[in-house]
Amino acid sequence: MPFKIIKDDITTLKVDAIVNAANESLLGGGGVDGAIHRAAGHKLLEECRGLKGCRTGQAKITKGYDLPAKYVIHTVGPIYKDGRHGEEELLTSAYRNSLLLAKKHNLKSIAFPLISSGVYGYPKKEALKIAISTIKTFLSEEDMDATLVLFDKDTVKIAEELYGEIKY
Ligand code: AR6
Repeated sequence: MPFKIIKDDITTLKVDAIVNAANESLLGGGGVDGAIHRAAGHKLLEECRGLKGCRTGQAKITKGYDLPAKYVIHTVGPIYKDGRHGEEELLTSAYRNSLLLAKKHNLKSIAFPLISSGVYGYPKKEALKIAISTIKTFLSEEDMDATLVLFDKDTVKIAEELYGEIKY
C-alpha cells in the first residue's frame, strides 16, 4: 500500500494519526514532541497524564485536539548508546507497535517522524533504514497509507543519497 517520504512539519499534516517521538513519561519534551504538544494544545497533556507513561518500543494513542490529525500515537524510541544495547530491535518495535495500534483503531493514514534520530542520537542513516524497512514490511500485508516525514536538511540529504529525490 502507499508509502512516501516527504520533507515537512508533521504537525501540519491532515492524516488519521501522526506519531510522536516521545519519552517514557509521555509528559512532553523538546523536538517533535514539543512541537506536537504546542500545536495540539494543553488538552493533549491532560490526556497524556492519564496514560501513566509508556515503555521504550511500545505505543499509546490519544486524540489530536487542535491538530489537523485526528489522533496522536505516542511511541518511545531507544536512546542510542553504541548499537549493542538492543537499539535496532527497540526502534523496529516503536514503528511496528505504532502501526499495529493504528490498525487496531481502524486508522487508514499515518505519518511518522524519524524516531530517535534527534535528541536520542540514533545515527540518521541507520534510523532511516530501519524506519523504511519496518514500515514497508507492514504495508506489504496491511491496507494503510503511511508517510515518513523528514524535517531537517541533513536527514533529507542522507535520504536522497540512499533513495533518490524527496518530495518538498
Ligand atoms: N516535524 C517532523 N519532524 C520533526 C519536527 C517536526 N515538527 N521537529 C523535529 N523533527 P526528536 P528523538 C525531527 O529529538 O530523537 C524529546 O524531547 C527531528 O529533526 O524530536 O526520538 C522527547 O520528549 C529528528 O529527525 O526525537 C524525548 O525526550 C526527529 O524529528 C526525546 O526528544 C526526531 O527528533 C526523543 O528524542
